[in-house]
Amino acid sequence: MFNGALMSLFTLVLISFAVSGCNSDDTTTSSLSPELEKGKQIVEGRCFACHAQSINGAPIVGNKKMWQKRATQGKAVLVEHAINGFGLMPAKGGFDDLSDEEISFAVGYMLSQVGQ
Ligand code: HEC
Repeated sequence: MFNGALMSLFTLVLISFAVSGCNSDDTTTSSLSPELEKGKQIVEGRCFACHAQSINGAPIVGNKKMWQKRATQGKAVLVEHAINGFGLMPAKGGFDDLSDEEISFAVGYMLSQVGQ
């Protein structure tokens, strides 16, 4: 009797762990659109070389204060600057293998991180 109750409690706990585990996986993979997900991978894999720590004054991803004025130029201008270079920002961050579209995804992700 006691053992049976304990077993079913144990099973219940296991099931709820399994279920909540799946749920959190779902939200992390589906919360971003495919474009933002691609952008995130490019930003974290490449652009973070400078944009994670403000190397040479690069605006830090997620820092609203640093992005406020830049964001007012609009996404198209920011993408153009990222593709062709701007001040101390090298063209495509120095990653010539990235397509213009990939840069656009990356800038889109950067803007999404400051609520733009
Ligand atoms: C070698 C360092 C470096 C890398 C790598 C880099 N950036 Fe930058 N980025 C900078 C610096 C420095 C600035 C600030 C330029 C300035 O205002 O003079 C900047 C500014 C920017 C801006 C703002 C431009 C504007 O008009 O204000 C955007 C957008 C940007 N970077 C996008 C990217 C993207 C996308 C990547 C990855 C593909 C990337 N950067 C990789 C250094 C870098």
